[in-house]
Amino acid sequence: MILEPLAPADRPVPTWCAAEVLVNRHHADRYQHLRLAAPEIAAAARPGQFVMLTAAKGHAGGPVLPRPMAIYSWDAGEGVIDILYAVVGDGTRALATFTPGERMVVVGPLGRGFDIQPDTGKVLLVGRGIGTCSLTGVAQELAGGPAEVVAVTSGRDAGAVIGADLFRTHGAAAVRAVTDAEGSSGVERLRADLCRELDEHPPQQILTCGSDRLARLSAELGARWGATVQVSVEAHMACGLGYCHGCATGPLDGPLESPLVCRDGPVFRLAG
Ligand SMILES: Cc1cc2nc3c(=O)[nH]c(=O)nc-3n(C[C@H](O)[C@H](O)[C@H](O)COP(=O)(O)OP(=O)(O)OC[C@H]3O[C@@H](n4cnc5c(N)ncnc54)[C@H](O)[C@@H]3O)c2cc1C
Ligand code: FES
Repeated sequence: MILEPLAPADRPVPTWCAAEVLVNRHHADRYQHLRLAAPEIAAAARPGQFVMLTAAKGHAGGPVLPRPMAIYSWDAGEGVIDILYAVVGDGTRALATFTPGERMVVVGPLGRGFDIQPDTGKVLLVGRGIGTCSLTGVAQELAGGPAEVVAVTSGRDAGAVIGADLFRTHGAAAVRAVTDAEGSSGVERLRADLCRELDEHPPQQILTCGSDRLARLSAELGARWGATVQVSVEAHMACGLGYCHGCATGPLDGPLESPLVCRDGPVFRLAG
């Protein structure tokens, strides 16, 4: 996959806050839903952006480096942001110990989110597992507008499929929840289903996150339909701010440094 930075845009101005934890509980089979009171971040968030969450609790210890998490949804009026996360290691295990009323250090919004062109009539969202959390904000942003949203949300089984309800709440024209368990998530099957559904009126933009396999399918469908493709990528991040240079998308030994996922992404144009 060849990743190209999107056209330059104003860099977000992240804020720091010790946000009150409002909710931190199990969601579906294997995820946690975290809601934070973070009015400044909620006011500035754009689809595809992320926050850095610090799991350490003062003297109680815990991982010092913050963990990047997509902003799943936000409500500027209520001043809250929502995050869905999978517990996979020390940092996310520590995040899961926060209880309502505790404060969590959060920095955001960060990164270059999805670039949705004003003249786009239809957008296809293709998400896999927890990666779908980067796409739900697109449906939120486009809700009530002229652009039609078609969403594919894929997972190993029904418990791993994320965002289908939220896509529907935001008025998506079609939501296709596919799973490995049912045999509906394979690339061949998805390609055939999407071509049948969209060949006549294809999307102008395809946005994807969470799977290289689905990113390659998105690139193929983009070429078929003449649609542009953007992908949100993941990388290990220490700062999320463009300082540590640990999240470069390519080797560090060339004369020019590769784009940084946290600063130039996480959303990139998929060029091939
Ligand atoms: C922009 C961005 C948005 C993200 N959004 C979400 C989200 O909405 N929800 C969510 O659950 N996770 C998300 N992640 C991934 C999340 O940051 C990691 O799962 C988390 O940092 C793991 O921390 P840990 O200490 O629990 O695990 P670690 O002990 O650090 O790692 C546990 C396992 O996960 C792998 N891992 C850790 N970080 C990453 C990463 N960034 N990419 C791929 N593999 C990794 C490690 O290699 C290891 O195998 C996002 C990552 C990025 C870069
Ligand atoms: S995480 Fe530090 S530069 Fe990207």
